[in-house]
Amino acid sequence: MPDVKTILLTGGTGFLGSHLTLALLQNGHNVTALARPSASRSAHERVLEVLTRVYGQTVPPEIVERLRVEEGDISRPQLGLDTAISDRLVGTVDEVWHSAASLSFLEEDRDEIFRMNVDGTQQVANFVSGTRSRRMIHVSTAYVAGDRTGRVFEEDLDAGQTFRNPYEESKFHAERMLRNATSDGTLAATVLRPSIVIGNSATGRATHFHGVYAFIRGLWTVARRLRRSRPASECVDLPLRIRGLETSTLNFVPVDFVTAAAVEISRQPSAIGKTFHLCNPEATPNHLWLGIICNQIGIRGVRLVDEESFDKEPMTRMEAIFHKQMTFYAPYLASEPAFDCSRATDFLKASGVRCPRVTPEFAARMTGWYIDLLNGTASG
Ligand SMILES: NC(=O)c1ccc[n+]([C@@H]2O[C@H](COP(=O)([O-])OP(=O)(O)OC[C@H]3O[C@@H](n4cnc5c(N)ncnc54)[C@H](OP(=O)(O)O)[C@@H]3O)[C@@H](O)[C@H]2O)c1
Repeated sequence: MPDVKTILLTGGTGFLGSHLTLALLQNGHNVTALARPSASRSAHERVLEVLTRVYGQTVPPEIVERLRVEEGDISRPQLGLDTAISDRLVGTVDEVWHSAASLSFLEEDRDEIFRMNVDGTQQVANFVSGTRSRRMIHVSTAYVAGDRTGRVFEEDLDAGQTFRNPYEESKFHAERMLRNATSDGTLAATVLRPSIVIGNSATGRATHFHGVYAFIRGLWTVARRLRRSRPASECVDLPLRIRGLETSTLNFVPVDFVTAAAVEISRQPSAIGKTFHLCNPEATPNHLWLGIICNQIGIRGVRLVDEESFDKEPMTRMEAIFHKQMTFYAPYLASEPAFDCSRATDFLKASGVRCPRVTPEFAARMTGWYIDLLNGTASG
């Protein structure tokens, strides 16, 4: 594989995909981003806009000159590309990075989630199988582990687990298909499994706000209603019980670690056919991060409780509204397996790329930056 690679990347307008695009460009590679246009902007404009936000300012010409953007759609045959463009890419790309996906957790979106995450990955795999190297870097999720408990190893996939939502299930099926295709030589795939991706470890900045950010936004919205005309700095009582376990954990990984680790692992030929947990070796206890978020928002009285609490004392109206909106998060607050990252750590050892611990200071920086953004006192 050449030092300077020609890469086709999907999901370049998304959180992780945009950070990966910038990191690959900064590493000297040529990147073609396959992206969809929006109603008002071309695919090219959308990718450039998000790259500018990731970079923090206009991306210098010496970086941007190695970026191309092609309009496409992973759910369509030939990735929705014109035949001439598809043929050119098949003949020139050294590697395909697949980061595009549907991140909806909703049961009512099941068909669409599977169409994007399973059928879309199959379309990408079909494309990759026609390239010279058949090399594919697939972004999956650590939560293909579903409802497993205990230690989950990087080589594990099917352990008879059940899934908490169609997103986890779809990502599992995509991984299984890629494993089979790699075993029979159709592909040379590496699977990367991040846990919960959060903002930059130095600045707290993020560019997209799903997952834990939606949870923070939910709490912030309730607090804002409660506070009404009182100053944002004033602490208010918010007696809110949330289903979950104080002692359980969430596994957070800063986006800068995930991108640096992904680039480093992909460089190593022995990564072919392997799966890597891009997770934090030290997950954060729920009481720690929740306490910090509440502090930052200026609320007290939020508690994680078990189901029995609601049997004893029914939900208040506010609790019922909050639970309805945050229902997708409940299983994650109740249990999480321990993601073993020995292989990733081993592959990263020589490079010095290491996942930072989510210390109270780091958690405060990350949530503080986002809450400032919600309060309108910081820029995205
Ligand atoms: N964020 C996390 O915490 C996290 C954690 C673990 C794993 N992951 C995995 O990381 C990958 C990237 O996630 P993310 O956080 O960057 O998600 P994201 O911000 O929602 O981005 C999703 C990307 O997929 C693109 N996409 C969706 N459907 C497409 C289609 N039919 N054709 C072309 N592009 C399509 C989106 O394009 P549009 O802008 O056009 O919609 C967007 O660029 C996913 O595979 C996800 O499963 C994410």
